[in-house]
Amino acid sequence: MSDYERVYAQWQADPAKFWAEQAQSIDWIKPAEKVFDEDAGVYGRWFVGGECNTCANAVDRHVAAGHGDRAAILYDSPITDQKARITYAELLDQVNALAAVLTDQGVVKGDRVVLYMPMIPETAVAMLACARLGAIHSVVFGGFAAKELATRIDDARPKVVLAASCGLEPSRIVEYKPLLDRAIEMASSRPEKTIIFQRPQAKAEMMSGRDIDWAEAVAAAKGRVIDPVPVLATDPLYILYTSGTTGQPKGVVRDNGGHMVALEWTMGNFYGIDPGDVMFTASDFGWVVGHSYIIYGPLLRGATTIIFEGKPVGTPDPGVFWRIVEDYGVKAIFTAPTAFRAIRQQDPEGEFIDKYDISSLETLFLAGERADPETIKWAERQLKVPVVDHWWQTETGWVICGNPVGLGLLPVKYGSPAKPMPGYDVQILDDEGVPVTEPDTLGNVVVKLPLPPGALPTLWHAEERFRDAYLSEYPGYYKTADAGKLDSDGYLFVMARTDDIINVAGHRLSTGGMEEVLSEHPDVAEAAVIGIADPMKGQVPLGFVVLSNGCERSEDEIQNEIVAMVRDRIGAVAAFRQLVCIRRLPKTRSGKILRATMQKIADREDWAIPATIDDPVILEEVTAVLERRGLLSRALEEK
Ligand code: COA
Ligand code: AMP
Repeated sequence: MSDYERVYAQWQADPAKFWAEQAQSIDWIKPAEKVFDEDAGVYGRWFVGGECNTCANAVDRHVAAGHGDRAAILYDSPITDQKARITYAELLDQVNALAAVLTDQGVVKGDRVVLYMPMIPETAVAMLACARLGAIHSVVFGGFAAKELATRIDDARPKVVLAASCGLEPSRIVEYKPLLDRAIEMASSRPEKTIIFQRPQAKAEMMSGRDIDWAEAVAAAKGRVIDPVPVLATDPLYILYTSGTTGQPKGVVRDNGGHMVALEWTMGNFYGIDPGDVMFTASDFGWVVGHSYIIYGPLLRGATTIIFEGKPVGTPDPGVFWRIVEDYGVKAIFTAPTAFRAIRQQDPEGEFIDKYDISSLETLFLAGERADPETIKWAERQLKVPVVDHWWQTETGWVICGNPVGLGLLPVKYGSPAKPMPGYDVQILDDEGVPVTEPDTLGNVVVKLPLPPGALPTLWHAEERFRDAYLSEYPGYYKTADAGKLDSDGYLFVMARTDDIINVAGHRLSTGGMEEVLSEHPDVAEAAVIGIADPMKGQVPLGFVVLSNGCERSEDEIQNEIVAMVRDRIGAVAAFRQLVCIRRLPKTRSGKILRATMQKIADREDWAIPATIDDPVILEEVTAVLERRGLLSRALEEK
């Protein structure tokens, strides 16, 4: 029996006992009264009655244990040419000072604080300062536009917003402050104060009475100590908005206790990271990967995390990851497959890898989107270390299926993120909700309830939506909205989303949200957006519009306007560039747009005319127009 099998069996035999044992790695102010209370919350709650503080576990306890001089954060910004090393003791001082600033603004336990920040250490400090106070942070990715920020502000209703004056993309400065001002103007729930971190690349204009200068306030608070506020294990640590099927994002709630226990378990058992090791997670604070593995996981573990303000290519070249591995002795890299597709495209022979000493690197972890076997094999050949694909979601906060380095790697099957981790009973159901027992049969991937510690207990102030979106369709199970299959060895293969979510360069986006923008254009009568395969970004959005009767404007003109609208309303990150005008949208007789069929046509997958189609001729038109626009061939290289 492998270690993985032994540990998984231990969990299966007694989940509460298993998690109670893992909980011992966390410092509790008061231990839980019940490890799992099946009557609490929507599907039960973990560590009920326990009291703790996430910041105290991520920072204070390492200082108290004598590791104050150990690097907590290594900041490396090839864009600004800045670097910094922040020890655990220094981090504690910085977190204390910012917590004091927030306290002076009246922020207390349970208040929400929105962060609109780039990849700088201040963002980590701000998240930890909120955690210290028991305030609930909600980080909004910098690539989202003002309207998306406004939607999140309205939902979270923050007392304070923290923002930097700008973020830095390789080719441009993204001024956050004007976007924040616009968002607050649009929002109906306005924060009392905003705290602005001025960066030299773009000084923000301050609004008197509302905007507070971050550096000045922190300097004035230097040396103050704010004791970590005890919170219940079940109190929220953060809300992270993620794309749903409409333009209204879902506010995934993460609690304090279960989150710490689960992340701490993964750090050793899954990632093989020990205290003092260096983990380099190349993602963004705005995504779940950033929350779990740029900040909380490594810091809870007492490891060193790297905050990287750059891109895998172009800052300045495809060797930047390897330079970072050499400079800091990185043990594990974690990023999205798209980063490796980008590196491979620019450095197919791995010449940049040869320039650096990457002998410290033991594993490459990939997640966030499907990892295509070609990319995995290329990375294995070039790096000569195990490449671990693992599958999870914003909702779960940590790996559902993967290959656990810390427990001894399982044999690799390309195209599969391997097996379920303890906590997850992963099953395949058919569309009627009946478990599929035959191996290799495609169906809906579900997790038998309850979800493990760390996974979302609900959506922020939207319990009904939580039930509707995840629990109602298959009673007793959590619907992942991924389609896939389990093989006879129990390996999972994740094939596609079953909803209107697409994954663009590892960024999760809602086609429904984009359709809402397209429909706002005055010449558009109807719109549909699908994700089509892209050799670098995995998927990119493609819009279809039916123009209003009598509209004679050119397709190019309308495309340019709509591309600008999506950029303005959703943000550059949507990477919406292609629009096709069509006479009618293919639909079923009951009016449902046949998005899945359109996507199969675009990706040149096998497709059949659905029996319920209203007018089959339209599908021929779709094929013809995609062919004419050269959009049919894009996936071909991949297949
Ligand atoms: N703030 C503001 N704008 C941002 C941004 C941010 N934090 N992140 C991205 N953008 C912008 C980009 O500048 C780009 O704008 P453009 O249209 O003006 O060029 C647009 O959003 C699309 O960005 P992206 O999808 O990242 O594409 P890219 O071509 O700039 O870079 C990669 C492609 C592969 C290099 C990049 O996606 C990457 O590094 N991916 C790594 C994986 C990752 O971080 N995944 C997150 C989840 S794990
Ligand atoms: P996010 O919430 O942004 O992490 O996106 C979660 C979704 O990304 C999942 O539901 C999957 O559709 C996809 N995804 C994440 N990791 C993987 C993976 N390793 N393999 C295939 N799909 C993945």
